[in-house]
Amino acid sequence: MTDKKIIAVVGATGAQGGGLVRAILADKNGPFRARALTRDVNSPKARALAAAGAEVVSADVDDAATLRRAFEGAHGAFCVTFFWHHLSPEKELAEAASMAEAAKQTGVTHVIWSTLEDIRKFVPLDDDRMPTLMGKYKAPHFDAKGEANALFTQAGVPTTFLLTSFYWDNFVYFGSGPKRGPDGKLALVLPMGDRKLPAMAAEDIGKCAYGIFKRGKEFIGRTVGIAGEHLSGGEMAAKLTGALGEKVVYQDVPPEVYRSFGFPGADDLGNMFQFKRDFNDYYRGARSVEFSRSLNPELLSFDQWLKQNASKIPIEAAAG
Ligand SMILES: NC(=O)c1ccc[n+]([C@@H]2O[C@H](COP(=O)([O-])OP(=O)(O)OC[C@H]3O[C@@H](n4cnc5c(N)ncnc54)[C@H](OP(=O)(O)O)[C@@H]3O)[C@@H](O)[C@H]2O)c1
Repeated sequence: MTDKKIIAVVGATGAQGGGLVRAILADKNGPFRARALTRDVNSPKARALAAAGAEVVSADVDDAATLRRAFEGAHGAFCVTFFWHHLSPEKELAEAASMAEAAKQTGVTHVIWSTLEDIRKFVPLDDDRMPTLMGKYKAPHFDAKGEANALFTQAGVPTTFLLTSFYWDNFVYFGSGPKRGPDGKLALVLPMGDRKLPAMAAEDIGKCAYGIFKRGKEFIGRTVGIAGEHLSGGEMAAKLTGALGEKVVYQDVPPEVYRSFGFPGADDLGNMFQFKRDFNDYYRGARSVEFSRSLNPELLSFDQWLKQNASKIPIEAAAG
């Protein structure tokens, strides 16, 4: 038996939740043990977490009873939604509501809700600087998370609102890495102008969340933002050049061009980058690297992340 407190981790087989589970497991003498929630306890990722020492339990955020069972007896819960699995802000809101309700019913004493800004508070729907999407959003995957903050507050759940940052891992897994242009040259295409983009290793989100749980009640009721480094497109392109051994240029495109790229969610991401560019002082101010490092002393810089991951970035071979 152990007197360690349980942290129930939603999305445990994914990037954010996985980082938290691994952080808990790595701190062998720490105060917590990890309960990893998954829809499939037999998947390779779930089995790997169990083999590493996590309690792996079956739960689906779309099934309230399984969620309640998984939160039962937990001290803390890490709550995250999965926008890119379904592209539905309404579903994200419903999933957040289910998690808030389950945390309330089971008396969880500290929830970390992985959230983002409701961009409509900065650019109202009738402001045509950027198009309104899906009838009532500016950037649906941001807005729904920000709107969902109130669901945790209204449920009376002791919550830390964790503002995350762009994952550098998007260069590997999300198609955001350098692309070869018609001239054969590699370009990092972002609509950020000369502004800096707070970003981080996805794994560090969970590690920072672990730091928040360890600090106890300090951040309950508060919004905290995290990032590994703030870099401009030009700075990222220079670092990519060094890591990939091939010149990468930064190609600044207008947000309207980015919105027209045609991949699922391109308009949502175009609006998101426009927000990050045009409200850059606010956006960067909300995501302190120093604070993030105080939560997670192992926080990676972009150079350190590249050292571990550059070889995984898919790069189209040069013609000829
Ligand atoms: N990409 C970025 O730059 C970025 C930056 C900030 C925030 N975000 C946000 O991060 C969120 C995703 O987090 P992530 O990257 O950690 O996700 P992820 O790596 O895609 O993993 C999500 C995990 O959630 C689980 N899952 C999916 N649907 C579920 C359900 N109905 N019930 C229970 N578990 C479910 C899956 O596990 P099982 O299959 O094992 O159940 C999956 O492994 C998105 O909402 C996105 O907007 C992304």
